[in-house]
Amino acid sequence: MILKEEKLTLNGHEIFLRSAKPEDAPMLKDYLKIVSGETRFLSKEADEVNITEEQEAAFIEKMNRPRNMLIIAFVDGEYAGNCSFDVQGESRRNAHRADFGIALFQKFTGIGLGRILMEKALNRAKELGYTQMELTVVSGNERAQKLYKSLGFEEYGRLPNANKYDDGTFSDDIFMVKKL
Ligand SMILES: CC(C)(COP(=O)(O)OP(=O)(O)OC[C@H]1O[C@@H](n2cnc3c(N)ncnc32)[C@H](O)[C@@H]1OP(=O)(O)O)[C@@H](O)C(=O)NCCC(=O)NCCS
Repeated sequence: MILKEEKLTLNGHEIFLRSAKPEDAPMLKDYLKIVSGETRFLSKEADEVNITEEQEAAFIEKMNRPRNMLIIAFVDGEYAGNCSFDVQGESRRNAHRADFGIALFQKFTGIGLGRILMEKALNRAKELGYTQMELTVVSGNERAQKLYKSLGFEEYGRLPNANKYDDGTFSDDIFMVKKL
């Protein structure tokens, strides 16, 4: 879905939210590689993120379809990150389930932007008729887990040692759901 552009103030910062456009593809492609290198909490190592601008543009087009959403956020005019959801699976039996993702540049964490983006996504998903939002977060990502729990997500299972890092350490995948 395409969102109405929105401006707001948050802890002294000017926030601008909008849907992504095809011309944002280079910016979003670069962002994904950078944020993947900034944290252990995303799904890939930075050197494994090698999508093309065409693939990114196709992703944007998919996420702008009526049952999906991709919000990109700017803080004081600078691109800060995004959050998204899309339908989980392709069958009618899965059509009530939305799958959520979010990542901000480290520089823009800690100002409350994550909460604002998630609240928007949860409201939109409910309006679209989804009855549950699902996400996966890794063990050790205390900030994300705290945010998700405060918004009503509950853990329903873990995959132990789902992720092995280059330094030989592991993290679990934690599955969370919020009923909408
Ligand atoms: C996870 C993320 C979306 C959270 O958004 P955010 O805007 O940074 O959220 P905040 O910094 O406001 O923190 C959310 C809560 O966690 C708390 N928190 C912050 N740092 C914390 C830490 N190290 N340990 C525990 N809690 C922490 C905050 O106090 C806040 O709680 P409150 O709202 O009750 O005050 C964002 O940090 C991010 O994109 N991180 C990198 C990528 C990532 O981890 N994505 C999620 C993958 S599942």
